[in-house]
Parts: sequence; C-alpha cells; structure tokens
Amino acid sequence: MTSAHVVLARRPQGAPVPEDFRLETRELPAPREGQLLVEVLFATANPGSRNRMGGDASYARGMRLGETMEGPAVGRVLVSNHPEWRQGDLVTGAFGWAERALSSGRGLRRIPARTPSLSAWAGILNLPGLTAYFGLRDVAGFKPGETLIVSSAAGPVGATAGQIARLMGGRAIGIASGAERKRWLLEEAGFAAVIDRSAPDLADALIAAAGEGGAQVYFDNVGGPVLDAAIRALGQRGRIVVSGQIADYNRPDGERSGTRRVHEFIGKRLRMEGMVVFDYAERFGEAEREIEGWIADGRLKFREHIVDGLAALPALFCAQLRGEIFGRALAKVAS
Ligand SMILES: NC(=O)c1ccc[n+]([C@@H]2O[C@H](COP(=O)([O-])OP(=O)(O)OC[C@H]3O[C@@H](n4cnc5c(N)ncnc54)[C@H](OP(=O)(O)O)[C@@H]3O)[C@@H](O)[C@H]2O)c1
Repeated sequence: MTSAHVVLARRPQGAPVPEDFRLETRELPAPREGQLLVEVLFATANPGSRNRMGGDASYARGMRLGETMEGPAVGRVLVSNHPEWRQGDLVTGAFGWAERALSSGRGLRRIPARTPSLSAWAGILNLPGLTAYFGLRDVAGFKPGETLIVSSAAGPVGATAGQIARLMGGRAIGIASGAERKRWLLEEAGFAAVIDRSAPDLADALIAAAGEGGAQVYFDNVGGPVLDAAIRALGQRGRIVVSGQIADYNRPDGERSGTRRVHEFIGKRLRMEGMVVFDYAERFGEAEREIEGWIADGRLKFREHIVDGLAALPALFCAQLRGEIFGRALAKVAS
C-alpha cells in the first residue's frame, strides 16, 4: 500500500521555509502480527518540532534528513493485527505528516467514540492541552485566588492554561499580538486582561494588570524579552513554568537570549522550572476526561486553523513559527 509523507529535506537555516520539506510517496508493508495500520485524519504543525529539525537532541531525539516530519496526529485504524485495537478505532499517536502509518501500539491513546470534537484530539486534548493542564497544576501548583500571566496566550497551550486558571478559581492575564486575539481572549476565553506583546511598556502594563502584590505564576511559552517583562510583574515567591521558548527556536545556540533579571529571583524568592509533558504520560487519561468535560459544557474554548491536505503543512508550519497562525495549526488529511 502506498502512503504520502512530508519529509525533512534539509536542515533549516534560521526560520524554516517550505523548501526545507519534500512530499514523497512510500510503499508501506502490510502490518505484521502485533502491528496496526492507521489512516491519518488530522496532522499537526507543532512549533516544538522546530527544535528537532537541527538534528540535535532536545528532550526528544533530533530528526534525520529524509525522515517523516514529526508531530502528534489523529487517525483511524484501517487494519489491526494487534489484540487491543480493532478496525475503525479512533486513535491519537505520533504519526507525523503522513497519510498512513504503521504502529506497534506503543504510545497510542484511544479516542472515545462519542467525543465533543475529533480535531480537538490533535490539539487541546493532545500535547498542547496536556502541557497547559500539568504545567499549571503540577509544575506551578496554581491555587484558587492566584493570578497567572501567560505568554502566547492565544495559542493552544496558552489559551488552555489561562482558561484552566480561571476554572480553578484564579485569574489570567494574557500576552498576545493583535486586536483579534485580544478580543477572543477577553470575550470568549474569559481572560481578565490581555496585553499586546509589542507594547513598548510591556512590563509596566503587566505590573498594572497584576495589581498589588504582583502575579503568582508566569507560564512561559516564548522566552526572550517577554520573559524579562513577566519576571518584573511577579510577586513574592512567584513561580515560572518553562513550557517553551519560541522566540529562540530559530536561533543558533550562542544567540539565544536568556533572562537578564536573575537578580530579581533573590529578593522575590522566585522559582523557575522546566517541564516535559511526557513525564505525565501515565496521567494523560485524567487530564483528557477533565478537559473533555469542560469542552462539552462550553467552559473551555479553543481555536483551530485547519488547512486541507498534507501538502499544505510546510507553509502552515513556517507561518506558525512566524506567529501568523491563530489557534492550533492542523491539516485535514482524510475524513
Ligand atoms: N514543554 C513541553 O512539554 C511542551 C509541549 C507542547 C508544547 N510546548 C511549547 O509550548 C509553546 C506554545 O505552543 P503552542 O502549540 O501553543 O504554539 P503557539 O503558542 O501558538 O506558538 C505560536 C505563537 O507564539 C508567539 N510567538 C511567535 N514568535 C514569537 C517571538 N519571537 N516572541 C514571542 N512570541 C512569539 C506568537 O503569539 P503572539 O504573537 O500572540 O504572542 C505565535 O502566534 C511552544 O513554545 C511549544 O514548544 C511545550
């Protein structure tokens, strides 16, 4: 059986361009005993994948040239020679930018037959939503009555973190670009305040929005100068969750920015902790059930930007890293 794949054709120099990818057709062998063949329904343009395209390992291994571009996906089982899966089962897994994929079943998660949204399993019910859930609750230890500052607040991780903070009885201050994102965050997602990332007085605006005593948690999706502004708005014993550093993803190692405000960690007794969502893999089910419930009763909103077909993914991924995509960036591969 043949399958279309988008592969890494060359290593990006700085910001990725569509020419860094190649669409090719492969022959897939029939699934062996213990394997299943999955048809991909939704593939994702995942900003964190940029880290692996240089070939160096981050928390996941670097990609090889010619390898299928990685990313979580939603699929349907076409053929199963695996005791736990049946033809027609809906599933999420790291199938990448592929039309079809063979799997041993490792790392697959079952999608309930009745779900409020199938595409959400490639976004808010997948790594972005799970990162927000565990980052806020377990890494930051966010508590009712606290104030959260979150960067890239309109993205799938940031928007989910801000809304979970609200659902936990706290308030969320978002940092995001442009009037459309600001309106959505305030009117649909229930953020208490939104500050434009390009505001010349970003730190002052965050300090004013946080109010007396400052914010308790900063959920950092971007790093760079935004991190320094957020540190200024944290109060005593503030906690910083390092989820992502998108401002640095296209930069070589020596040119990454880092924070210049370490001195504030002393007087404010701040704590900063990195996270990898896969550390919580055994508890994904708990988060999925809670997030699904919030979606079903309309308390958790999410945005998607869906393009048609695998071939559209390279341009989508590049646009995503330029900050042009509002919502989870997905390609509909089959229906
Ligand atoms: N640690 C983990 O286990 C884990 C797992 C999944 C994802 N993540 C990370 O979570 C972060 C958010 O992921 P996401 O999928 O929700 O993507 P996302 O936030 O939608 O990423 C794109 C957004 O980042 C912002 N951005 C782009 N360039 C920037 C720059 N130079 N400086 C500051 N902001 C910039 C833009 O938003 P605005 O212009 O509106 O600010 C842009 O729309 C990513 O860094 C990702 O790698 C971490």
